[in-house]
This record gives sequence, C-alpha cells and structure tokens, in this order.
Amino acid sequence: MKTLVIASQKGGAGKTTIAAHLAVAAELGGAGPVVLIDSDPQGSLSAWWNSREAQAPALAPASLAELPAKLEALRAAGVKLAVIDTPPAITAAIRDVVKLADLVLIPTRPSPHDLRAVGQTVDIAAELQKPFAFCVTQAKPTARLTVQAVAALSAHGVVAPAIVHDRVDYAASMIDGRTVIETDPKGRSAAEIRELLYFVQARLHEKKKANKKETT
Ligand SMILES: Nc1ncnc2c1ncn2[C@@H]1O[C@H](COP(=O)(O)OP(=O)(O)OP(=O)(O)O)[C@@H](O)[C@H]1O
Ligand SMILES: [Mg+2]
Repeated sequence: MKTLVIASQKGGAGKTTIAAHLAVAAELGGAGPVVLIDSDPQGSLSAWWNSREAQAPALAPASLAELPAKLEALRAAGVKLAVIDTPPAITAAIRDVVKLADLVLIPTRPSPHDLRAVGQTVDIAAELQKPFAFCVTQAKPTARLTVQAVAALSAHGVVAPAIVHDRVDYAASMIDGRTVIETDPKGRSAAEIRELLYFVQARLHEKKKANKKETT
C-alpha cells in the first residue's frame, strides 16, 4: 500500500479537490482498492464523500492518534492506495501526517502569494525526508502565469507535468459527491486528472534514491 498525502499551507489551493479526484481516478482506473482519509477538521472531504452515492473509494475515519494503526490495518486488508487530505496549516498535526507519507503532493495555484508560501510545506517534507512534488492547480487559460509558476516551483523540487486548470466542472461535479471523472469522463478535466494520477503513481512506485537525487 502507498500513502499519498495532499498538503499545502495555503487555504483553497485545491487539496480536497485533488484528493477526491485522484482517489476516484485511481479506483476507477483499477489501481484500488483506494481509501480516502480526511485529516482536516473542516471535514470538506468527508462531507463530499457523504453526499456520494458510490461506495468506492471508501472513506476511512481516523483521528490523528489512530492514523498509523489505521494505515497498518488498511494495508493488511489489501488496500493499495491511501489518499490523505490535510488542513491548510503548518502544525505538529501536519507533520505527523507527512511522517506517514510515501509521497507528499503540494497543490499550488499559480499566484505569487501561493508560490511564496510553498517553502513552509516543502520544509516539512524535506525535514522528514519525504519525497514531494508540486502540482499546479486552478491554472487560468493564459499560459504566462502557469509557465512562471512551473519555473518558480521547479527551483524547489519536481513539478507534475499535468496542470490542473481552473474549470467550473471541478467544483460542479463535487456538489453531489462525484468528480469530473464521473460527470464527464471524456472531458479535458478528466484527462488532466488521469495524467496527474499517472505522474503520482510513477513517483509513488519509484525507488527512494532517485527521488532524493531530484529533490535535493
Ligand atoms: N481546478 C479547479 N477549478 C475550479 N475550481 C476549483 C478547482 N480546484 C478547486 N476549486 C474550487 O476552489 C475552492 C477550494 O478548493 P479546495 O476545497 O479543493 O481547496 P483546499 O486546498 O482543500 O481548501 P482548504 O485549504 O480550505 O482545505 C473550492 O470551492 C473548489 O471547488
Ligand atoms: Mg480542503
């Protein structure tokens, strides 16, 4: 079992959206069983899941204290991928979750404020020697800011080649507990999520050594 932690200090960066979308894409793509874990007291991911009709991916409730044991139990039960959503904060709690990660994915909007804030999330992953990667989210059609963001982020670490654009369907699909993978499987949003998943899976299954070389 691999554990993917979605973290970024910036509120609204797209953590919950990315967590739900990647989990559904992995489950429907045959990489499951996938389990979602909501470590954010805001509970947005759990609320989304509760409004969902489909049972998979499963949601595993777990307090921070029971998270390590829960992950072990999920592994023993045959779960292949655990996706953990986190709150927008830099706290000891985030550190405890990152400790459990095989990969930390850091969604980042292509805005100067968001770009300036990535350092703190990166510091946690680096301090705990966890592989991490950035994913540009809510990118506008104008390419200039996106290119600048990719360039700025690549100074800190690996950037997913899949860019998640700002599209109404991401938010709209989640109203009734679904994702773009389910509401418009042939659309551009679904395609970029699948491409992001492909990148994430490759990083998750990569040897640690190669990761270290690239992120230092
Ligand atoms: N790619 C996108 N296109 C359009 N809207 C998006 C996209 N990603 C996220 N959003 C919207 O932006 C808002 C914030 O997204 P989301 O809740 O996923 O961010 P978050 O990082 O989890 O926020 P928080 O830090 O509060 O947990 C939501 O209203 C969501 O629907
Ligand atoms: Mg969230």
